[in-house]
Amino acid sequence: MKHVLVTGASGLLGLNLALQSAERIRVTGVTNSHPLNGAPFTVLQADLAQPGAFARLVEQVKPDEVVHCAAQANIDTCEKDPAQSARLNAELPGEVAEVCAKHGIPLAHISTDAVFDGLRGNYVEEDETNPQSVYAADKLAGERNVQAANPQAAIARVTFYGWSLRGQRSLCEFFFYNLSAGKRVNGFTDVYSCTMLVNDLADTVLEMLDKGLRGVYHVFSRDAQSKYQFGVSIARQFSLDEGLITPISVEDSGLVARRSPNLTMRVDKLEAALGRQMPTQAEGIARLHDLYLSGHAERIKRLAG
Ligand SMILES: NC(=O)c1ccc[n+]([C@@H]2O[C@H](COP(=O)([O-])OP(=O)(O)OC[C@H]3O[C@@H](n4cnc5c(N)ncnc54)[C@H](OP(=O)(O)O)[C@@H]3O)[C@@H](O)[C@H]2O)c1
Repeated sequence: MKHVLVTGASGLLGLNLALQSAERIRVTGVTNSHPLNGAPFTVLQADLAQPGAFARLVEQVKPDEVVHCAAQANIDTCEKDPAQSARLNAELPGEVAEVCAKHGIPLAHISTDAVFDGLRGNYVEEDETNPQSVYAADKLAGERNVQAANPQAAIARVTFYGWSLRGQRSLCEFFFYNLSAGKRVNGFTDVYSCTMLVNDLADTVLEMLDKGLRGVYHVFSRDAQSKYQFGVSIARQFSLDEGLITPISVEDSGLVARRSPNLTMRVDKLEAALGRQMPTQAEGIARLHDLYLSGHAERIKRLAG
């Protein structure tokens, strides 16, 4: 049976991807500071910022494939600790790619839509990048380091939402839990993305590896919403009060790192490579709801112990 090594297995993407993969293939997930209790896959702890840590893991696990999801993905933390961001988001991906190349292991590396400045929108893979934050600049450097060390690697530019370990990682959880508690929240009317349900993303990344895709791909929903519209969609899907969401501009938010306003993305290259369409926003939110009804959100939270 195929054996996949998933880094960042306590994170929003890594955990959902590991859980889904474990239903059909052998999975080893790597966590650092957040242990998993009762996960249906093998869990190893490792601080991948330590020199040689990833190489030692690969020697131990001997995986058939690697999905590298671990990162410092908090944009404001990266502004405050640029050295940590550089290590995890720029250098580490290059090391992961080098080790995978040395052993001939197919690799999917996870990057971000934030490599673009968001001034124009509707980006294709070849468009000029212009990162606007420490996080985004380091993620772009990470992409380049992966490509230099391992041209066979697949690099997925993504942004996503879903149910996470502590119920706090994702924008859908922000809207769902606050609106469920009857609390007022703000939604940005001037920040657009093609965010994708993490479970659809997980399926797609595994499919990219199965098909042997290499190079940079945009992996997103095929349509876009503003963060405000996304909140309203969540409210409607879960029968919550959309009137609790106040539409505001990101300029009035007080966030530390600059946000890019229009990160709408084209997915034609991926759709052609996979021979199918990416899901729409509406389809993703409907699946998010189905997962909730099936107990997925609570099951994930129980893994936190
Ligand atoms: N969330 C989004 O919408 C979004 C958007 C664009 C791109 N991305 C990219 O997608 C990928 C996954 O993001 P995510 O949102 O799932 O991340 P996340 O929920 O913040 O989780 C980050 C993961 O990385 C692990 N990690 C951090 N430092 C580590 C270290 N020193 N050693 C080993 N593991 C370490 C964490 O482990 P512990 O928690 O156990 O310490 C955790 O499992 C990242 O590459 C991110 O840049 C995310």
